[in-house]
Amino acid sequence: MRLIFLLIIIVNLNIDIHTQQISSPDSKLILKIKLSADNELLYNMSRDGKFVIRDSKLGIDLLNQPDFLNGFKIDTVVTSNFTELWSPVWGEVDSILNNYHQMVVTLFQPIEKRTMIITFRLFNDGLGFRYEFPVQDSLKYFTVLEENTQFALTGDHKTFWIPGDYDSQEYTYSTSLLSEIHSDIGKNVHEISVKSIPGDNFVQTPLMMKSKDGLYINIHEAALLNYPVMYLEVDRNNFVLKSHLCPDAYDNKAYMQTPCTTPWRTIIVSDKAEEILSSKMILNLNEPTKFEDVSWIKPKKYIGIWWNLHVGINSWNYADINNVKLDAVDWKSLTPNGKHGATTVNTKRYIDFAAKHGFDAVLVEGWDVGWEDWFGKWKEEVFDFVTPYPDFDVVELEKYAKSKNVELIMHHETSASVTNYDRRLDEAFTFMKDHGYNSVKTGYVGKIIPRGEHHDGQWMVNHYTRVLEKAEKYKIMVNSHESVRSTGLHRTYPNWLAAEAARGNEFNAWSIGNPPEHETILPFTRFMGGPMDYTPGIFQIKMDYYKPESKYQVHTTLAKQLALYVTIYSPIQMAADLPENYERFLDAFTFIEQVPVNWSDTKILKAEPGDYIIIARKDKDSDNWYIGAITDELARDFEVKLDFLPVDKYEITIYKDAPDSDWEKNPMKYEIEKLSVKKNQKIYLELAPGGGTAIILKPVN
Ligand code: NOJ
Ligand code: CA
Repeated sequence: MRLIFLLIIIVNLNIDIHTQQISSPDSKLILKIKLSADNELLYNMSRDGKFVIRDSKLGIDLLNQPDFLNGFKIDTVVTSNFTELWSPVWGEVDSILNNYHQMVVTLFQPIEKRTMIITFRLFNDGLGFRYEFPVQDSLKYFTVLEENTQFALTGDHKTFWIPGDYDSQEYTYSTSLLSEIHSDIGKNVHEISVKSIPGDNFVQTPLMMKSKDGLYINIHEAALLNYPVMYLEVDRNNFVLKSHLCPDAYDNKAYMQTPCTTPWRTIIVSDKAEEILSSKMILNLNEPTKFEDVSWIKPKKYIGIWWNLHVGINSWNYADINNVKLDAVDWKSLTPNGKHGATTVNTKRYIDFAAKHGFDAVLVEGWDVGWEDWFGKWKEEVFDFVTPYPDFDVVELEKYAKSKNVELIMHHETSASVTNYDRRLDEAFTFMKDHGYNSVKTGYVGKIIPRGEHHDGQWMVNHYTRVLEKAEKYKIMVNSHESVRSTGLHRTYPNWLAAEAARGNEFNAWSIGNPPEHETILPFTRFMGGPMDYTPGIFQIKMDYYKPESKYQVHTTLAKQLALYVTIYSPIQMAADLPENYERFLDAFTFIEQVPVNWSDTKILKAEPGDYIIIARKDKDSDNWYIGAITDELARDFEVKLDFLPVDKYEITIYKDAPDSDWEKNPMKYEIEKLSVKKNQKIYLELAPGGGTAIILKPVN
């Protein structure tokens, strides 16, 4: 459903006054543009009369052609207002208001006789703008050397950041002043082998900042299509951020043909952290979906042959050989290593568990030949995506899963050999559909082929889009790992259920992991662009359970793992732990069984990046509400008002940390309490260090 309410257009032709401005619909934000002495285009943005962004330059550097940096004349300025109410295919809320004031500035370079347009959209919660290049005689093809978009900040803000890296976002966050940003801090906590860091003062977006006077500012991008990822280069002395695009092997950034546009550059701003999390500006800047039929796109809760691989109980590979040549191996003649996880028997066990506990789907990793030799070889033919190992019976499992009303989720690890995946995509998707699979988890671990390309470059951005478009033809939903971070494209491609593109729970299985604050920062950073497959729900928290010598653990209490199903928004959520671990804690597991993955309403009750988050959400298919509260490494008590609830009386079940629990010493101690509450009441939550609380609220008539 899409309702467009209003559109007014005012055209100012032949502008002499070189300052133009628009205000946000609520008049709090003002965006001004003007020409500098060199005829560069500058913009600034203020909120309640105070600058958020000081005068900042806009422009693009081209290869072997005059730049779009200066020498501009403002040709026309067209302003308009837009209001629309639309319903996402799935999401946090039933309907989204898209309301902005727009200013389209047409710039002309008289010497080059060229035109560039910059469109600004000012919402109550921030600004989006992008460059547009109409078809013109003097500009058909061009190569972008660099984009020179500036974000001049007003001070040395507190910043939640990860180092700029062309190939990975899998870092823990550093919190520092802008002046203190240095990628060495980030590098120390990064265990992924592919890294391509342009310099020590580059950071990734979404970048979350807080000014000394309490203003929250988030910079990111929306609708990243046919263009590389934008990073920010930090001027540590003057607090000016400048865009830097992911390069290719020639150090070029983007190859463009008119008519074309860049993605939107976004600045979300509020004096309330909660409003940053409820902003829908990035989604609103994306185009409505063109998919005619979306009925096949369904949120899902799943389990998988997965954590057992990460904790080392089982292996992805079937045999212990190396130097695999895909076509030359007779898989049936190999001696199995006895640890292979993706067997028919094991998959049936997972299907049974899923059916018994109401899960939609089971992911199976390590089902296809090639895992013996999958990583670190930078070779082309790693997987063929259609040949199962001898002990994985695709036909039998399709029948079995169907009989239990459970879906299987296909896994396509490409090992970053993307040319190979592109070539085999039709065959791979046909194989999926022939065997009843509707969803795929893709993966891009390693160094990209075509060699010289990066995960975040224009070529790869186009690959991810190509996969989504092809997947739509086959009615396949996609959950992509090691792909580009989200920019709200799930409005346009609702079959893109989630991406990983951040440091997920898996790091806790085999590394120093993610500190307790990690999940309180992710919603303000990575999730600003869209959902992540974080894989919460780990109940066996310390890894010495599997390997006595292991010092690794999830930095959490068990109750916090439950709360993450509410504080992390995703239409695809995994219950990541082993079925046998859930069977040890079936009373706590009832929360995971019941928690939905699709919502009709969301209230961000309290939030502070790096400290805590409390969110309430309403189930799309019932009148039940759910609350998730999480804290960082500190114990915190909260008073939560229930006045947002629509009816008067609720029976609630609270899953909380035991009084003596904490993430380090007693992470698996929890209590479950049942209460009757009224909506005019407050409830009190006591969160342990690294802890959380999860609540189910059912209305009583
Ligand atoms: C990394 C992914 O994030 C993880 O979920 C997957 O199991 C491995 N790659 C293997 O594909
Ligand atoms: Ca990963």
